[in-house]
Amino acid sequence: MAKRILLTGGCGYIGSHICLELIEQGYQPVVLDNLSNSSTTPLQRIEQLTGQHIPFIEGDVRDEAILDHIFSTYELSATIHLAGLKSVAESVAAPIAYYQTNFGGTVALCQAMQRHRVKHFIYSSSATVYGLTAQSPIREDAPTAPASPYGQSKLMAEIALRDIAHADPQWKIAILRYFNPVGAHACGQIGEDPCGVPNNLMPYVSQVAAGKQPKIRIFGNDYPTPDGTGMRDYLHVCDLAHAHLCALRWLDGASGAKVFNLGTGRGYSVLEIIRAYEKACGHALPFQFLPRRDGDIASYHAEPALATRELRWSATRTIEDMCRDAWNWQSRNPNGYT
Ligand code: WQD
Repeated sequence: MAKRILLTGGCGYIGSHICLELIEQGYQPVVLDNLSNSSTTPLQRIEQLTGQHIPFIEGDVRDEAILDHIFSTYELSATIHLAGLKSVAESVAAPIAYYQTNFGGTVALCQAMQRHRVKHFIYSSSATVYGLTAQSPIREDAPTAPASPYGQSKLMAEIALRDIAHADPQWKIAILRYFNPVGAHACGQIGEDPCGVPNNLMPYVSQVAAGKQPKIRIFGNDYPTPDGTGMRDYLHVCDLAHAHLCALRWLDGASGAKVFNLGTGRGYSVLEIIRAYEKACGHALPFQFLPRRDGDIASYHAEPALATRELRWSATRTIEDMCRDAWNWQSRNPNGYT
């Protein structure tokens, strides 16, 4: 009997890629999603791709009754928790929603898991908890200093998880700090489908390549980096999804809660991304230099050695793979899932 895994936020960009990877690795995902920032279309496509039915429950991770229904209906081995809000800018304007959903939702989920004695947990966290002063390559023991309510809410959830594991050694928890997930599964059937104008670089570049936006806005070319533009640790979303399967296997022999940085270990600049994307899409991409964006730092990238050593995981896909797969998704789905 394949292990059933509760996947919250499984209709989202990263969640859908984890959902597909779970099925490909012989697990049976049960998806909970409130569809506030997604639709069920990716699940339908994954069902077509795999021939597997995916139990889906529309609902909010803070809804006790829905959680009790799920844990009573399905024999779940573990939970992978991605459901949450993730916009840095939005969190500054609406902090209550972020603390309620990201921190409160994680606590509500843990309460339900406690009631139903399911105590294997993988938490989707973010490198944003390191804040604006982190020195790269960033290790898991680097100081945390979130610079937004979004980052604070992710770190607060991490702290709660560590306390839960400390109080009850039956809990085994992997806290995964994502750097910059980009790209899409090579099949071109699932990918990033941002609502409105994308805030993040890769989906915006994709839309310029598809002619949906006039030109790329490069926020700052006066950073202390080789070409003056911001550098980030971009990670193929399929490498990220695979890391969750490695973390599931790690949980079986784990004790307590542990943090892992998930990145490639090297940074790429905005201009390097543009050049790589031009090769992927086959044409030049117009851009303009604009002033720096508030809250941005020059450069950061992960030190992924702990995940390699303990999760037996490393990123394998190159920046060329990321741009090729991002373009494949964009060109096959010019209007996303609509
Ligand atoms: C990357 C680089 C920009 C857009 C964000 C969140 C973080 C995490 C990942 C959730 C930077 C530059 C961007 C554009 C640009 N999300 N840029 N023009 O800011 O590193 O991280 O997404 O966990 O919490 O903060 O990613 O893609 O927005 O920016 O020049 O139109 O591209 O200045 O150097 P970021 P990003």
